[in-house]
Amino acid sequence: MQQPQPSGSLGEASFSLSMLREQLADTYQSIEQRIERLTGELQEARSERRNELAEKERLADRLQSLLNALPAAVLVLDGQGRVQELNPAAERLLGGPLQGASWRRLIDQLFIPQTTTGGDLLLRNGRYVALSTCPLGHEPGQILMLHDVTEKRQLQQHLEHSRRLADMGRMAATLAHQIRTPLASALLYVSQLHGMTVGNALQQRFSGRALQSLKGLEKLIADMLLFANGGGNVRERLDGAELLAQALESLQPKLAAQGIELVRHVEAGELPVEVNPTMVISALQNLLSNALQAMPEGGRLTLSLQRDATQLCFGVADNGPGIEPALQARLFEPFVSGRAAGTGLGLAVVRAVAHAMGGVVECESKPGEGATFTLRLPLAGSVPARNEAALSA
Ligand SMILES: Nc1ncnc2c1ncn2[C@@H]1O[C@H](COP(=O)(O)OP(=O)(O)OP(=O)(O)O)[C@@H](O)[C@H]1O
Ligand SMILES: [Mg+2]
Repeated sequence: MQQPQPSGSLGEASFSLSMLREQLADTYQSIEQRIERLTGELQEARSERRNELAEKERLADRLQSLLNALPAAVLVLDGQGRVQELNPAAERLLGGPLQGASWRRLIDQLFIPQTTTGGDLLLRNGRYVALSTCPLGHEPGQILMLHDVTEKRQLQQHLEHSRRLADMGRMAATLAHQIRTPLASALLYVSQLHGMTVGNALQQRFSGRALQSLKGLEKLIADMLLFANGGGNVRERLDGAELLAQALESLQPKLAAQGIELVRHVEAGELPVEVNPTMVISALQNLLSNALQAMPEGGRLTLSLQRDATQLCFGVADNGPGIEPALQARLFEPFVSGRAAGTGLGLAVVRAVAHAMGGVVECESKPGEGATFTLRLPLAGSVPARNEAALSA
């Protein structure tokens, strides 16, 4: 509303003052409104932040409960490879104290340095674990997850054992025949000797044949036992070259008798494996016997022994007739044989032994160009490739 203007300079001053007061009142009001608006916005932002924090806390609680309830062991390593966090399952599986410990040191303390079937790791407390890793992403470090696979492995072993026994049960008639044939001939020769109806030279021949039949029988039974038992927990740390030499020893006379040339390529240096020696020697002898049987008129037997980062490779190669593709496809199945006098257990034993020792056996052959069998066993002290990164974290 327009104020009545007082006359003179006092009036002008009073007028300007009243204008100023009005302006000031307006400015004050607008400032007040702004402050009110800003206070409202601030409160809104504060309450949003509080909600966000509450949500984050809820998520952290949830994550912690999940980690606590998880049956797998979880460890979080920082950039220096030290255990930053872990869940109760990790403490139960690995024991303590783990918090702050260096993962590298824990590896030496907790794991047995040896490759096991399927890439699982063996803890010193006898449990088998499967290890998976994942980088933290936004910061240096990684998450390790260890699953206890001991029961699963035991079940698998029982299943494999049952399968092998079932295989043997199915082939009981064949086995009985394989046993009866050498047994009958041994009996025949021994009964001739017993009656002493033959001269000295014949006595020698008969006792030799009886011995040969009994040895064949012994090998057959040894193979049957190896095949049925599969694994076996006796392990020794040995040199691969020594195992190969021992396997070859009993076959040297045959090699000479058949006029077979022997070529050896054995890598220099340490070639350590942690195995059951009886089983590995038996497996190698089966490969060597097959090679000799493939070259009855002589030939060349090439034995090689080489190592890579994780494996020791035994190679047995001959230049015999090779193996037909149809037979190759079923070569390692029990009771599959291409020889009239064969049981077909030899290569099944080699495969069972290879698996039990955490390795594999492979065959390469072209008909007419000989055959090469490679038995790969884990190098003692090596770890499965897929776990190497995690174990060297
Ligand atoms: N080096 C080889 N060269 C050619 N054939 C082979 C060779 N090794 C294996 N075989 C073929 O594979 C078959 C299966 O071999 P495996 O050792 O399992 O049984 P086997 O020798 O017949 O009998 P066993 O070893 O039980 O006395 C053999 O009968 C043979 O036909
Ligand atoms: Mg054989």
